[in-house]
Amino acid sequence: MGWLSWERFGCETDCKTSPKSCISEQLYLDMAQQLASLGLDKLGYRYVNIDDCWSALARNKNGTLSEDAVRFPSGIGALSEKIHKLGLLFGMYTDIGSKTCGGYPGLNNAIDIPQFVDWKIDSLKVDGCYADVKEMKKLYTDLGAALNATGRPILYSCSWPAYQADHCENESDMATLVKECNLWRNFDDVYDNWASVRSIANFFARKTKDDILVRSAGPGHWNDPDMLLAGNPGLSLSEQRAQFAIWAILAAPLYISADLRVISADSLAILSNKEVIDINQDILGKQGHVLSDDGNYRIWIRLLSSSEGEKIAVLFENKGSIFEKIRFRFNISQLGWSVGSHVTVRDVHAHNDLPLGDDGSFIVDVDESSVEFFVFTKIMTYEIIEM
Ligand code: GLA
Repeated sequence: MGWLSWERFGCETDCKTSPKSCISEQLYLDMAQQLASLGLDKLGYRYVNIDDCWSALARNKNGTLSEDAVRFPSGIGALSEKIHKLGLLFGMYTDIGSKTCGGYPGLNNAIDIPQFVDWKIDSLKVDGCYADVKEMKKLYTDLGAALNATGRPILYSCSWPAYQADHCENESDMATLVKECNLWRNFDDVYDNWASVRSIANFFARKTKDDILVRSAGPGHWNDPDMLLAGNPGLSLSEQRAQFAIWAILAAPLYISADLRVISADSLAILSNKEVIDINQDILGKQGHVLSDDGNYRIWIRLLSSSEGEKIAVLFENKGSIFEKIRFRFNISQLGWSVGSHVTVRDVHAHNDLPLGDDGSFIVDVDESSVEFFVFTKIMTYEIIEM
């Protein structure tokens, strides 16, 4: 969980005309301070991640890579230190090919890795532009080994599947990703519009062969559907809430990419919903999946850890975008639970408990382009046997 600059701030390098939004040390410092002062760090948003366009356009004569001296006057090392002083973690960006997607110098393992360690990075996003797609398995594996050899814990974010025609949905590639990477971008970049969120959600809702996508996620290795849009202008509040809920069901990394200096109270409330964050961060680490889909709606479920019995997050999604409220008639038997079980239902958006019918039924209305989100808990009951 953290903050990543790309979706909101892209590759703006002109600090004269855009002093507040150019990729600069001030931008990352401002965001780090906001994460702390808005209390987002306490909720788990701890990584402050640089994305593309941070470096000089060319390497130095000795081959090293420096930050753009005008936009990062104190240097990356000093920025990293200031971010760490706030109790946060610092993430860097590079590209496994000859150039980054924005055209800046690509990675040189031997020169850059010691430099990154010197800068005390805690995370490294490694993009895949300008690289041979057939070479990526080896390149990402070698880089993983090199990062491990540094001895510094560095969260390793790979982009390899996003560049492959089959998105690495085969046993061999997925096994490599699980072993080598902590998270990996599977699919397209998110854009600040609902069509983009829908197409990414559809990608992850697919039933893949032997459920390879769902089964590959687990503690320490996650599918990454890309950044959160809440706080940006492109989505309505209900769409921002829906994206956040779907990302929670997907056990997705949660990277905010909004301007935290001007975020609205409503968007902040969406990103700060502790009950939804708890689903996303559940310790079992199981990625959720679609239980049923009729074209107009989807029901997603995700198994959660529980000390009380069995716990399942259930997300009702209305995919329609014209005024058609959908009435879901759900029954706990769809979760494999027998009618008559002691079940509680928690609405994680409204923060209240809801009743269940005696026949195990649950009815909920969902607006267009919206979701309703619940946690169903089957409480373990014990029979007392008199001796
Ligand atoms: C690719 C990545 C994005 C971002 C840009 C930077 O498109 O998928 O997340 O890092 O490159 O150029």
